[in-house]
Amino acid sequence: MKAILCTHFGPPEELEFADIPEPQPGPGEAVVRVTAAALNFFDTLIIAGKYQQKPPFPFSPASEFAGIVERVGEGVTNIAPGDRVMSVLGWGAAREFVLASAQQLVKLPDKLDFIRAASFGVTYGTSLYALRERAQLKPGETLAVLGASGGVGLACVELGKMMGARVIACASSDEKLAMARDHGADETVNYAKENLRDALRRLGGDHGIDVVYDPVGGPYAEPAIRCLAWLGRYLVVGFAAGEIPKLPLNLVLLRSCDIRGVFWGTWGKREPEALRALLTDVARWSAEGKLKVHVHAVYPLSEIVPAMKVIADRKVMGKIVLKP
Ligand SMILES: NC(=O)c1ccc[n+]([C@@H]2O[C@H](COP(=O)([O-])OP(=O)(O)OC[C@H]3O[C@@H](n4cnc5c(N)ncnc54)[C@H](OP(=O)(O)O)[C@@H]3O)[C@@H](O)[C@H]2O)c1
Repeated sequence: MKAILCTHFGPPEELEFADIPEPQPGPGEAVVRVTAAALNFFDTLIIAGKYQQKPPFPFSPASEFAGIVERVGEGVTNIAPGDRVMSVLGWGAAREFVLASAQQLVKLPDKLDFIRAASFGVTYGTSLYALRERAQLKPGETLAVLGASGGVGLACVELGKMMGARVIACASSDEKLAMARDHGADETVNYAKENLRDALRRLGGDHGIDVVYDPVGGPYAEPAIRCLAWLGRYLVVGFAAGEIPKLPLNLVLLRSCDIRGVFWGTWGKREPEALRALLTDVARWSAEGKLKVHVHAVYPLSEIVPAMKVIADRKVMGKIVLKP
């Protein structure tokens, strides 16, 4: 089978497009024919050796995929060959066949196409976990989303709106903000043009912002925290800007607010049943048309380099999908 392989840490240009043997399922496992695999920002980090997880070589990037079950191992009863499924692994989906634990596979509703099914796992999974479990977002609350046109950001805009929040999308260009509006944002802030703190103070009014969702970090964290409401929640999701912010703790005291970490991948490993239920919810809402799951572009598997570059160059809006 064809596979993208990372044999040493480096830039996307050093990935290999190789022929390797197809995997065989052991007890409790399934082999899935990948019809679509999706990339995330962390794939650009994992191949460079800059991510918290460092897989043994050789490995394939892309953590999420959708496809058709090809073979199952001994003892598998929850799925069968021919089933349409999706799942999220730590890495390894940029190839024609993947091996997964059968318990990790989520069956897809008939109406959901493979491209969107490969695209919702990490982004909507992270954002739903963040908003529902970590922030306990309530209808009528004000939610500010930074990096609002990126993968997790755009998912957060859609989910926040669906959960009844007033959503303020914050991003670095008017084009990105138009995309966020198209996904349900009520208000927008272009933080490349306007001071983020001034804008969120204006839009938050006397009450302030109830929840800030921050996958960007860098220079935006502190101004966003300064705009939180009493009992507000700031969600630490990621550091796409590259810099891990440091904060004066008096800001937390003055607002009686919470800084809450969001580590979706580890939560999913600790609570696999809850993870499957959460992904099943998102799959159903996507099939029902309640969530758009925007796909920026689809590339053949062999074009991993331009696919990775569009993410690294900060040009992506929604998801990048690879098609084996
Ligand atoms: N905690 C978790 O469980 C979890 C799960 C998934 C992802 N993450 C993390 O969340 C972050 C975003 O992931 P994603 O997949 O949504 O990424 P993405 O699609 O590339 O979006 C990232 C956004 O960050 C903004 N940004 C600011 N400075 C940037 C820079 N120097 N380079 C690239 N983007 C920059 C960009 O928006 P503007 O141009 O509008 O600023 C971009 O749209 C990453 O750090 C990722 O590791 C965390």
